[in-house]
Amino acid sequence: MTIHYKFPKDFWWGSATSATQIEGATDEGGKGKNIWDHWYEKEPNRFFDNVGPESTSDFYHRYKEDIQLMKEIGHNTFRMSISWSRLIPGGRGEVNQEAVTFYNNVIDELIANDIEPFVNLFHFDMPLELQEEGGWESREVVSAYTAYAKEAFHLFGDRVQKWFTFNEPIVPVEGGYLYDFHYPNVVDARRAAQVAYHTMIAHAKAVEAFRTCNIAGGQIGIILNLTPSYPRSNNPADLKASRITDLFFNRSFLDPSVLGEYPAELIDILREHGQLPVTEKGDKALLKAGVADILGVNYYQPRRVKAKEHLPNPYGPFMPDWFFDNYEMPGRKMNKYRGWEIYEKGIYDIMINLKENYGNIESFISENGMGVQDEGRFEQDGEIQDDYRIEFIREHLKWLHKAIEEGCNAKGYHLWSTMDNWSWMNAYKNRYGFFSVDIETKQRTPKKSAHWIKEVSENNGF
Ligand code: BG6
Repeated sequence: MTIHYKFPKDFWWGSATSATQIEGATDEGGKGKNIWDHWYEKEPNRFFDNVGPESTSDFYHRYKEDIQLMKEIGHNTFRMSISWSRLIPGGRGEVNQEAVTFYNNVIDELIANDIEPFVNLFHFDMPLELQEEGGWESREVVSAYTAYAKEAFHLFGDRVQKWFTFNEPIVPVEGGYLYDFHYPNVVDARRAAQVAYHTMIAHAKAVEAFRTCNIAGGQIGIILNLTPSYPRSNNPADLKASRITDLFFNRSFLDPSVLGEYPAELIDILREHGQLPVTEKGDKALLKAGVADILGVNYYQPRRVKAKEHLPNPYGPFMPDWFFDNYEMPGRKMNKYRGWEIYEKGIYDIMINLKENYGNIESFISENGMGVQDEGRFEQDGEIQDDYRIEFIREHLKWLHKAIEEGCNAKGYHLWSTMDNWSWMNAYKNRYGFFSVDIETKQRTPKKSAHWIKEVSENNGF
C-alpha cells in the first residue's frame, strides 16, 4: 500500500479522556464530590436526557478491558486526567489510598501495554468544598491545587513523564462565569477574569513545583482549546473584531502559557472597562518562570467573526461579545449534529501561528473529533459505519502533516475520544469514540474508525 502521508518517527497516536467523563463510580472508592456531582443533584434537568455523571463509561471498573482495546487499535499514548476529588476528597488534606491504587493500576497497565500515559491534573472538575470556598476566585484554592499537583507528581512521577496542569482552562471561565453552561452559573466578567487569572497562577505554581521534583525526562505543559478567529472580510472593523476575539479567547491563555505574559492590549481593554483581576506582587515573575514545556492543542472548530451590527445594551453585563458578532459564513461545512463548523485548515493555521509567534513550542493535537447524535442509525451488522469520522480525522491529519513538513513542532494526534463518554451538559447526546458504549450495559464495540486508525497508526501514516 502506498503511504502518501507519512508522519515522523515515534509520532504519538492515541486518544484523550477525562476522569469525570469516563470513570463513573462517583460513590465508590472513597471519592469526594465535585461540582458536576453537585450540579446534577441540584438540577438534573439541565443534563441531556437527565443523564448524570454517576456511572458514565465505567472506566473505574473496566480500565483493563479499555486499555486492551487501545492496544488493539495501535495507541502508543493515551491521555487521562486525575480526579482531584477522588485523589484528595474535599480538595485538601489526606490522600485517598483507594484512589492511589486505582491510578497506579491504570498507569501500570498502560505501561505494561506500551502505551505512554499523559496525565492531566484538572479537567473542569473542581472539588465541591473548594468551589464553596470560591473556586478559582480564591487564592487559597490555588494553594490547595498546588499541594494536590505536588502530591500527584510525588505519587506517579516515577512512571509518568508527560504532565498537564489544565485542560481548556478557558472553558470553566466561559461556562461558569460568563455563559451559564458550568456550575456555579455566574454571569460576571470581572469574576471571570479573576478565575482566568488564578487558573494561570495555579498553572505557574504547579510548573514551579514540578521543576523541583526532577522527574527524569519529565515535561509539563497545558492543554488549550485554540479556536482561530477568522474575520468576515478585510474591512478594518472586521479585522479589529477578529483581533479582539483572539485576545479574549486564545491569547488570554496562550500568551501567559507560552510567552509568560499577558498581551498588553487585553490588559488595556479590561482596565478600560473596569474588569481587571486582583493580582499579587511577584505574580509577574511567577508567570514568566511558569512557561510550559509542551502545549496540547484541542481543535474542533474555527470562530468566524464580524464587527458588531448593533451597540451592546448599556445596561447589560460587560461581555467579550461587546466587541464582535459571530459570523455565519455562507457555504461553511457543518457538523450539523453538534452545530460546529468543520474547517480542517484551522489545524494548520494554529500550527503555523505557534511556529511563527510562539517559538515553535513542542506541541501535539491533544483533542480533535466529531460528536454525532443518534449514531446507532449508522449501524450495519453490529458496527457503526462512521465514515464521516474517518473523513474528519483524515482531512485534519493532512493539514497537520503539511504543517509538520513546513517545520512545525507537532508530535502527535489524539482523538477525542477513546470510547463514547459523558460530555458535561450534553451527557451522552453526541458520541465521539472509536468505540461505542451502550450506556445500559456498558458494552464496548469498535466502530469502523477504530479499524481505520489501527492501520494508520501501524503504518504511521496513510
Ligand atoms: C472539549 C473537552 O471541549 O471538547 C471535552 O475537553 C469535551 O471535555 C469535548 O467533551 C467535546 O465537547 P462536547 O461539548 O461535545 O462534550
